[in-house]
Amino acid sequence: MNHFELLDGPGGAELACEDVPLARIAEAVGTPVYVYSSATLERHYTVLRDALVGAGLKDPLIAFAVKASSNVAVLRTLARLGAGADVVSEGEVRRALAAGVPPERIVFSGVGKTEAEIAFALEAGVAEINVEAEPELHLVNRVAQRLGRRAAVAIRVNPDVEAGGHAKISTGKSENKFGVSFSEAERLYANAANMAGVRPVGVACHIGSQITDLAPMEQAFGKMRGLVERIRAEGLTIERLDLGGGLGVPYFNQPIPPSPDDYAAMIGRVMQGLDVQFAFEPGRMIAANAGVLVARVIHVHERPEGRRFLVIDAAMNDLLRPAMYDAYHDIRPLRPRTGEPVAYDVVGPICETGDTFTRDRLLPPLEAGDLVAFMSAGAYGAAMSSEYNSRLLVPEVLVKGAEFAVVRPRPTYADMLDRERPAPWL
Ligand code: LLP
Repeated sequence: MNHFELLDGPGGAELACEDVPLARIAEAVGTPVYVYSSATLERHYTVLRDALVGAGLKDPLIAFAVKASSNVAVLRTLARLGAGADVVSEGEVRRALAAGVPPERIVFSGVGKTEAEIAFALEAGVAEINVEAEPELHLVNRVAQRLGRRAAVAIRVNPDVEAGGHAKISTGKSENKFGVSFSEAERLYANAANMAGVRPVGVACHIGSQITDLAPMEQAFGKMRGLVERIRAEGLTIERLDLGGGLGVPYFNQPIPPSPDDYAAMIGRVMQGLDVQFAFEPGRMIAANAGVLVARVIHVHERPEGRRFLVIDAAMNDLLRPAMYDAYHDIRPLRPRTGEPVAYDVVGPICETGDTFTRDRLLPPLEAGDLVAFMSAGAYGAAMSSEYNSRLLVPEVLVKGAEFAVVRPRPTYADMLDRERPAPWL
């Protein structure tokens, strides 16, 4: 469920975020612009937490995957409900801290953490570093000793199962770069227990993203349970089992993912009687349907042979998912329009054929100046945006009830140019 609904106004029905018509935000801030609903963010977090607690998991750590939506205001909205943060860079650690996420609720994942990043995270006091490879374990050990600390680590396992909506976002097969095998994990865990700079506290996995089938998760989680039991059988202590993120969301026209209740019930079943703290790293299921990208039609370009291009002022630099993963985003005019639907190729102004959001999409007839919203764009939308083609970085707005705030303003062209320096010889 989300809070983007039609609202009756003086000029007829129009699409709103909570109690704010999206057109009002477009007028005030300009387009393209991302708009997030606080109520949807809060609802998704709460639904997941209640489902997990209801399935018998006590005090789960729900570490929101900052990469999905890294705006500090979004993070703060979740942190206020008790969310932690799953981070993959020093920048994300800094964002989580700036949002008020307590360090003891921050989990540091990622395949290639640098020495400087590890040092920063340890000084900040993060809850756990998810170690993805043997050399990284040694690096964490060295850095922690240099700082006079003992780093809490979890070993990230690659459970070698097939999952995830698209090859580019599947992470749990052994040919992917993430994590170590089960036997490696057991060995590294035992080694870690003897290292002066680290303290092994858990094991972690994350098998992919936009997963719409519980079977691969169930398979991976069953194996993770087995690993915890084997580690304990060796007489080692283990406190935390991090099951990652990955639960899909109902993108319009796509396979319907399991509900948070079904996901939690499956975990409750697989983990029954296992006494550990569970951690989760959900990104998409919390943020995707809590955000839209609003854009304006620049013009309609009709080819004599019939192809119709809807040229809008958002482009692949603002929303990369269609170009990168052939992702489908529902497109809705902000004002419902009547008339026979027309097939459009919806494209942005960037000089690449890949800057095509969709082809032959049936939409009501639209014209220059009309506003449209890309739905389900709150995860991996603004977070993946860039200035490609020297387009200004897309702004972000957070709505709460009848209020809205610009939480990342659109930079000016002066801001863009001021970041650069002439070379002395030029
Ligand atoms: N934990 C780890 C270690 C991850 O690598 C990821 C996502 C997550 C958690 C969060 O997964 P989620 O719950 O959001 O599925 N840019 C792509 C998605 C890339 C996901 C990368 N890792 C997209 O737009 O579909």
